[in-house]
Formats: sequence, C-alpha cells, structure tokens
Amino acid sequence: MTSLTKLPEYQSLREHQQSLAGTHLRELFAQDAERGQRFALEAVGIYLDYSKNLITQQTLDLLIGLARATGLEQRIGAMFRGDKINATEGRAVLHTALRAPRDAVVQLDGANVVPDVHAVLDRMSGFCAQVRSGQWKGHTGKPIRTIVNVGIGGSDLGPLMAFEALKHYSQRNLSLRFVSNVDPTDFAEAVQGLNAEETLFVVCSKTFTTLETLANARLARAWCVEALGSEAAVGRHFVAVSTNAEKVAEFGIDTQNMFGFWDWVGGRYSYDSAIGLSLMLAIGPERFSEMLGGFRAMDEHFRTAPLDENLPVLLGLIGVWYNNFWGAESHAVLPYDQYLKRFSAYLQQLDMESNGKQVTLSGERCDYQTGPIIWGEPGTNGQHAFYQLIHQGTKLIPCDFLAFANSLNPRGNQHDLLMANFFAQTEALAFGKTEAQVRADGVPEALVLHKVFQGNRPTNTILFDRLTPAALGKLVALYEHKVFVQGVIWNVNSFDQWGVELGKVLAQRIIPELEDPKAVLAHDSSTNELIRRYRALKS
Ligand code: F6P
Repeated sequence: MTSLTKLPEYQSLREHQQSLAGTHLRELFAQDAERGQRFALEAVGIYLDYSKNLITQQTLDLLIGLARATGLEQRIGAMFRGDKINATEGRAVLHTALRAPRDAVVQLDGANVVPDVHAVLDRMSGFCAQVRSGQWKGHTGKPIRTIVNVGIGGSDLGPLMAFEALKHYSQRNLSLRFVSNVDPTDFAEAVQGLNAEETLFVVCSKTFTTLETLANARLARAWCVEALGSEAAVGRHFVAVSTNAEKVAEFGIDTQNMFGFWDWVGGRYSYDSAIGLSLMLAIGPERFSEMLGGFRAMDEHFRTAPLDENLPVLLGLIGVWYNNFWGAESHAVLPYDQYLKRFSAYLQQLDMESNGKQVTLSGERCDYQTGPIIWGEPGTNGQHAFYQLIHQGTKLIPCDFLAFANSLNPRGNQHDLLMANFFAQTEALAFGKTEAQVRADGVPEALVLHKVFQGNRPTNTILFDRLTPAALGKLVALYEHKVFVQGVIWNVNSFDQWGVELGKVLAQRIIPELEDPKAVLAHDSSTNELIRRYRALKS
C-alpha cells in the first residue's frame, strides 16, 4: 500500500487544512444557520453533534475519500468476516462475535464460533444465578457476599469500568472489589474487612501468565486457605477466566470452575466475554444480555451504514483530522455522568494500546502521527481542574463530551445543573469571548487579554437518553470501532501490543537482583545506582 502521506487524498487534506486554518467556528456558524443540524447524526439511539468541529462539508468529503483510499470498507468486511487481520500474531479479530445472536454464523477456520460463545454465556448465566441467589455456598456453607476480581489491563479495566457504569443495576447485597496492581497495598486494601467464608475470587487473565495477576492470585489463595484452614476451600472460593486451561490447572484452580474465551479476542476488547463474569455477577445475566444487545446494535450500524452516516467512522475521521493535519497530540473524553468515572481510563488502554504504534502493517516506519494521548475525567469535576488549559492554554485539545438526558438518580434540579454545564462548555470552547466583548463588560485594560477566550476549540457532543446496559454496550462498541477506523487509516495493527514486552523482560532480570543484595549489577549507571539505593533503603 502507498504510504499514507503520499496519497492524493492526504495531500488534498493538507492543502485544505491550510485554507481553513484562518477560519473561526464563529464564522462557520454565522454562514450556515443550520450547521448545528447539518453536522449531526442520530443512529441506534445516539445523537452525535459534530458541528463544533473545524470542518466544512469539503473536509468531510475529503476525509471520506481518504477512508476509501485506505480501504476502510474492505477492512471492516475483513474484520467481521474473521480474516486474520491481526497479522503480526496471525489471529482473527472477532470481538464482534462475542455479541452475535445465538443463531448467527461466524466462521473461523471452517467452524462456527457462535455456539461456543453462547455455551460460555450460558455457563456464566447458570453460575451467576447460583451465586446471586445464595445457592452457591462457600467452604463453610455460607453464601457469597463479596466478589474480588483479580486481573490487570483488559482483565481489570473493562469489568471495573462497566461495573462502575452499571452499578445502578447491580444487586446491592453483593459487593464487588478489584485487585490489579502488583503493589501489595492493592490486595491488602481489597480484602480489608472481608470474611473469607463469604468471598469469591474471580481470577481473570487471558494468558494466565501475567506476573501481577498470578502474584495477586497467590496472595488471595494463601489468604483464603489460611482463613478457612483448608486447601479444599479453593474449589468453592476461586473461579478462573482464561484462554489457557493448562495454566489455570497448574495454578490449582479446577478447570470445572473455569470460563473460557479465545485468542481471537484481544484483552482490551474482552469485557463482553467471560472476562465480564464479575460484572455479570453484579448486574445479572439479563442486564448483561441487554448490554450485549447494545454492542450488537452498534456493530450492525458500523458494518452497514454508509461511511458518511456512520458514527464510529465519523468520530474516527474527525480524530484523524486533528491528529494528522492540525498537530493535536491528545484527545480528551469527558463524560458528564459520575457512573462513567472510569470510562476514560478504560479508553486509554483501548485506544493507546491499540494505536500507539509506529510501524505499518507493511513493515515500514510511519512518517506521520498515529494514536493520540487519551485522557479525561467526569464533568463537572474536570471543569474545576484542567479545563483552564483546554480553554486558554496553547495546545489544541479536541474533546468528546458525553451525557445522558435522564439521570438514574434524579434529585431536585441537579441533573439540569449538570447538563447546563455540559452545554455551556462546548459553547464556550467553540465561540469563546472576544476582546470587544470583554471590554464591553468594563474589564480594566490590563486584564482584557487574560479574560479573552479565543474559542475555536473543537468538540463532539454525544447525547444518549439514559445510561442503560444497552447504552453502555453501544458506547463501548462506538469507541472500539472508532479505534479500528483510525488504525486502518494509519495502516497499523490495532490488535497487538509488542510495546509492553521490553519492560516485562527487564523486570524479570531485576527481580533476583533485588532479592540478592550481592548480585552483580550490569545495567547503565543510573539503573545500577537506583537499585543500590533501593537495596540500602529497604529494611
Ligand atoms: O501487558 C499488556 C497486556 O497484555 C494487555 O494487553 C492485557 O489486557 C493485560 O496485559 C493482561 O493480560 P492477561 O489478561 O493475559 O493477564
């Protein structure tokens, strides 16, 4: 494939950016009284307003042209068809099959994977029904009251984000805790005050070789066995979620108590597989199934809608526009819903582990920017922390603003207060406040420039009716597919993560050097000195 930057469509976008660089959103809105309706799209229950972007119809046409030139339509087909598009690992990418209906057919290497997906979902449902009803008893005969999810990366962030997002729907007499960090403090605090008799550990690891998860699972096992006085307790207090039955058995968890998934599901695309077991325990199989329905609706939309009426495609292309033509380094995701407090953290892995690459699928080094830095916090908290920089700083930070029209916890007019802030922020970012307006307010001359808001700061607004399990499924699939679209444009493999390996290997080398104070150190002078100091300080 021709390098992205050599494509005529890419060159045209560069020229177009130069012609648009001096235009303000104020002018674009003034020129077209219907811009707010024209650059908006409603599909699968989501309203996307993308009018407050530095775009014209020509921009969109050129971006769609770029998408076509990079083969986006064919790549979408290839992913859904189960082609081995994760080329560096020789795997298919079929997280969309995790939410396929029972009667669907998704062939991989000559076999339909959908019956396997539903067999696991059925086992999960059965197990969850037992635990939720108290029928599943711990070693001493007591029902389970707390579930501790042990995992990291996709085996933690997905279930954690979704549990927080759907807490409203959770069974409140079951509590859910998460342990991910190898820092023993994480484990110590997670089991603080728990009664081992009523605690169930869900050990989640796709590979079942991850250092952090295995270390925490060992701590959990020792804690449980010590409290309950018997190795036999493990069978009633531990279940595993993994693709690696051998390692699960080696660890000492009966594979009868294991829920499987497959190598064609990436860790960061996995919380709608068995990796979502702790979530299903919390919200129940029916709500989980509604969530899968939401994912499926977005999958269908992505697969079938024309590019210019396709939510993930539009979000992806608008992101490429700022990343590659306006020099934006980061992208903020700002949910105006407290239940989505971990959504940006979840997206960081989804997006940055997927598209933080610099070698193309054809094996060449990229001569253009790829994945942006993703960050964000829920509104309105962010407004009182970092929005200053978005409004008046020197950096261009495109933002996605997300909100729900109906609160799950209505109290007086507080949801209106939240939403007033939500609408006000994108308005302020787009239109700002001119010097003339500031002077008209009677501001002393010395303060005028300080009080000017240049505006012209781009945002997308994504509005839903209400945060339901289905809405969450749609939202997550929206971003999964947005990341895919961008990966296609940048011609990178969004489904491997070689960049996490080197640190893991070096840590393995350092572990024995910390345990044996006499071990010879042969690192660089900085690392050697830091290790020496650590050894000296450690009591
Ligand atoms: O090291 C990164 C990573 O491989 C992620 O991609 C993954 O989500 C995480 O580690 C956990 O991996 P596992 O589920 O195999 O323990």
